[in-house]
This record gives sequence, C-alpha cells and structure tokens, in this order.
Amino acid sequence: MTLTVDTLTVWMNKFADKIETNKQYLSDLDTPIGDGDHGFNMDRGMKAVEEKLSTKPSDLTNGLKTIAMALISTVGGASGPLYGTAFLEMAKKSSSTDNIGELLDAALAGIEKRGGAKPGDKTMVDVWSALVPSVKAGNLTKDKIRSAVDATKDMVAKKGRASYLGERSKGHIDPGSESSGYLFETLLETEGLL
Ligand SMILES: Nc1ncnc2c1ncn2[C@@H]1O[C@H](COP(=O)(O)OP(=O)(O)O)[C@@H](O)[C@H]1O
Ligand SMILES: [Mg+2]
Repeated sequence: MTLTVDTLTVWMNKFADKIETNKQYLSDLDTPIGDGDHGFNMDRGMKAVEEKLSTKPSDLTNGLKTIAMALISTVGGASGPLYGTAFLEMAKKSSSTDNIGELLDAALAGIEKRGGAKPGDKTMVDVWSALVPSVKAGNLTKDKIRSAVDATKDMVAKKGRASYLGERSKGHIDPGSESSGYLFETLLETEGLL
C-alpha cells in the first residue's frame, strides 16, 4: 500500500505502454462523443512522463510533481489539466503520507474540484470514485475496473465535450474513463504496490 519513487516509476512505465498500445482505441472512443484525440493526447503525455522519469526523481513528491507538470504541459484538452491536477494533488499529499489509497483520494478530490463533475456525469470521475474505495479496502480487481468503465456506456454526459450531445452521448464508453481504467489496471499489475 506504500508508493515509492521506484514503484511509481514502474507504474507509470506500464501505464505509458498500455496507453501506447491502446491509443487508437481511446481516440476511436472519443470520435462519436468527442473530437477523436484522447488516445493521441494521452500517448503524447505519457511519452513525456516516461522521458522525465528516466532520470530518477530525488523523492516521491518530486516524482509526482514531475509527472503532473509533464501531463499539464503536453496532454492538452480537458484531460491534460485533470490528470495533471490528480498528480499534483498526490504530490501535495505525499508530504504527509505515502499510502496509495490516501494519495488517490486526494487525486480524486482534485479532479472533482477542477472539473466540477460528479459521479454519474459520464467522466473519468465515475471510474475514480468507484475504484479509489477498492484500493483503500485492498480489494481492487480487474473485474471491478471493467465494470466501472463499462458503467459509463449508458450514462448521459453532463460534463466535457460529450455533454454537447445530450442523450445521444448514451451507448458509448467514456474515453477518459477507459484511460483511467488503464491507470488502475497498471496499478494492480505493479508488484508490491497494492
Ligand atoms: N469536467 C470534467 N471532469 C472530469 N473529467 C472530464 C471533464 N471533462 C472531460 N473529462 C474527461 O476528459 C475526457 C476527454 O479527454 P480529451 O479528449 O483528451 O479532451 P477534450 O474533450 O478536450 O478533447 C472525457 O472522456 C472525460 O472522461
Ligand atoms: Mg477529445
């Protein structure tokens, strides 16, 4: 349950790989209910993160801050500032704890504050709010991640570009929820982290 510079780096490299593998799929999800750029935005951002982390950060706080800055300056769109805020809030929180559940709690609060979305609005908040409690309880599973992501399919978007479509946003998985699902999947795959 403890995040260190080393486990953070392994986690981020796995996340970058998963984003790269699925960048076309993520952008395809963003095509009917957005502008088709989510996977390419995230891939650009995670390549920058990998590059930055190739020089070992001095401590956890600096590692998290470095990730936040790389995402904010390279991802763009709505998701860049939101993922950036998530890591910036984890960086702030890391001065008092290195517990992954508590760090992710702070990240979620930051995303909600920054974007103003609530659970049910068909955004990444749906996945984060469903899964952070499982991380804290120590019972996160791949099935839970899949269910949380798939649950966004039948929601009507209330925030972000997809909200312009109103009812027509139904029937499509939210792209930012899918990429957030990858973040939690790779967390699960990072040995010694959960
Ligand atoms: N206000 C918001 N709060 C939380 N997440 C949001 C918000 N607006 C958008 N998102 C997330 O961002 C994703 C879209 O990201 P992206 O395509 O990179 O940006 P853009 O919509 O600017 O093209 C959405 O699928 C959704 O999960
Ligand atoms: Mg987009």
